[in-house]
Order: sequence, then C-alpha cells, then structure tokens
Amino acid sequence: MGRIFSGIQPTGNLHLGNYLGAVRNWVNLQNDFECLFCVVDMHAITVFQDPQELRNSTREVAAAMLASGVDPKKHIIFNQSQVPGHAELAWIFNCVARMGWLNRMTQFKEKAGKHKENASVGLYAYPNLMAADILLYKATHVPVGEDQKQHLELARDIAAKFNNDFGVPDFFPLPEPQIFGTATRVMSLKDGTKKMSKSDPSALSRINMTDDADTIVKKIRKAKSDADVLPETKDGLEGRPEAKNLLGIYAALADVTLDDVCTQFAGEGFGSFKKALAEVAVDKLGPIQNEMRRLVADPTSVDAVLRDGAERARAMAAPILAEIKDTVGFLKA
Ligand code: TYM
Repeated sequence: MGRIFSGIQPTGNLHLGNYLGAVRNWVNLQNDFECLFCVVDMHAITVFQDPQELRNSTREVAAAMLASGVDPKKHIIFNQSQVPGHAELAWIFNCVARMGWLNRMTQFKEKAGKHKENASVGLYAYPNLMAADILLYKATHVPVGEDQKQHLELARDIAAKFNNDFGVPDFFPLPEPQIFGTATRVMSLKDGTKKMSKSDPSALSRINMTDDADTIVKKIRKAKSDADVLPETKDGLEGRPEAKNLLGIYAALADVTLDDVCTQFAGEGFGSFKKALAEVAVDKLGPIQNEMRRLVADPTSVDAVLRDGAERARAMAAPILAEIKDTVGFLKA
C-alpha cells in the first residue's frame, strides 16, 4: 500500500478550488492508501497571519477535511507545527536544495511580486518545507491541484539529491503527484484565466466552503460568462475560459464528464445553466457545510482530533528522522 501526504494552508477561507482540486480526491483515495492530511500552519506564516485568525483557520480547515469525509481513525489529520520533525528536516533540505532551483519557483515570484527583497526568507524556502512534509514520512503519493506541480518536482529533486549525495540510493522514494479529476485548476468566477484563490481581493471571485446557499446562488448568478449558447461538445469551449470553468465546476460537482455537461445543456444560454449549477452546488456543498459549522462550533473536539493525529504522526516520523540524522552524520541524542 502506498502512503499519501497532502496539505492545505490555513490562510483565509477554504474555497471550492481547494475542495474540488484536493480534499474531494483525498476522500476517494482513503481506501487505497495510508494517508496523512496536514493543516500546514508553518507554511501559512510565511506571510503574516493574525494569530487568532490562524487558530480559527487551522480549525476550519481541519473541520472541512472531517466534514468532507476524511476518516481520522483510519488516517491521520494533524497540524504541521505539532510535529517538530517538519522543521528539522526542512533545515536539512535547506542545505540540500540549490538557490538556482528555488529561483525558478513561479509561486514565489507570484507571491513576492515586484518587491522580492521584502518577502520573508520563509516564503523563499517554502518549497523545502513542503518537501520535508512529504519525505518525513517517506510518502509515495501526493494528491494536489495543478498549481502544486512545480513544488512536487522540486521535492523529487531534493529526494534524489539527498539519496545521491549521501550514497543511499533508495532512501527517499520520489513522490508521485496525483493530479486528477475534472477540476485540477478551478478558475476565478470573475476571470476565467485566473486561478480561484484565497488571496483574490474580490469575494465574488470564489465560492467559500463557509458560504451559505443564498451567497452561493448570488456568486454563481454574478459569475462572468459570455454571450454564446453552450456548445454540443467540450471542443466548443476552447477560447471561452469562463464557460469552460463553469461547466468544469458543474462536471466536478455532479460527477460527470465535461462532454456529458455539454450534451445536457447544448444550445442553452447561461441563464438556465447557472440556475442548474447553483442547484448542484448548494446540493453537494450544503451537507458538508452544515457539518463544518457543527465542528467549528465545537473546537475542543477538532483540537482533540489534531492532537491525536499529531501524536501518531510524530511516532511515524521518529524512526525515519533518526535514520536521516544518522545518514547526515549527526551524533545520536
Ligand atoms: P494551498 O493551501 O494553496 O491549496 C490546497 C490544495 O488546494 C489546491 N488548489 C486548487 N485546486 C484546484 N483549483 C484551484 N483554484 C486551487 N487552489 C488550490 C492546491 O493545489 C492544493 O492541493 N503548498 C501547498 C500546501 C502544502 C502541501 C504540502 C501540499 C504544504 N505541504 C505537502 C502537498 C504536500 C499549498 O499552498 O496549498
């Protein structure tokens, strides 16, 4: 059985892209893999977070994982900062990864913007911590949305260089990205060429997992579309980024293919399609959101899940970290 590691940052609201691109796939993978799902609070602070909001978001992301159907008894749900091995291995990887590799990371360039010298050192070294997350458990598979692909390639490069530098050819597995489904890249509702993102200043650009039914309906009604009717096949969506995104969201939520959606709505305008999309969104997300609300109102039980998960994660990481330190040449404690 392979081992999965994946993570979500507790920064701002969890949105439909996080759900369709990541969490929903995790739920489906639980039967075939041993899984660790992590709320990566240490990644979150690479950009300043208000401490109380960070605590709330950490619980909210954990609640979303639980409400979506991740089983915390069979698998491990925890927050990163409770397992010190992530930071320890990240330091070792800071010394394995090359500046040139990190300089190529597009996410750093996007997040740091024009003022690179004002970005935190943590934001720059972020991908090394991500590699440490995965390799601390020798995870073999990493289910993520498409935007994380480059970071995973870096994790593979780090694993390969460590194995090579220290003469331990099979020590770290080269983790495989699992990027699948019809929603590997959910786009903004306001601009079909931009990724749906927590940091977009427009609240109308994304559907949050905490939005109530009325808000979801309103955001879909106000979503950008175009003046044409819907095509008969998915090929007709080329050059129509907003249409492609909205139909892709429908396909993912209704669990059908993009071609199925086209067949169903061929010749119709966005007025009736958006009504159908809002219906399926409210229908599919509603039960998850209700459960999330219940869990968020009971932080003690969410904290207990995270503590239990962290304890099991620490136990799983301990022998691997001991071997890593020994391989590097650190004296035993
Ligand atoms: P984060 O918190 O930005 O996103 C969490 C997950 O959601 C996916 N995602 C999307 N998928 C489809 N469409 C979108 N618009 C969209 N936006 C986000 C992301 O691809 C991700 O799977 N660096 C990671 C967190 C992380 C991690 C890890 C992931 C830290 N350590 C180890 C995997 C393994 C991040 O910032 O994800």
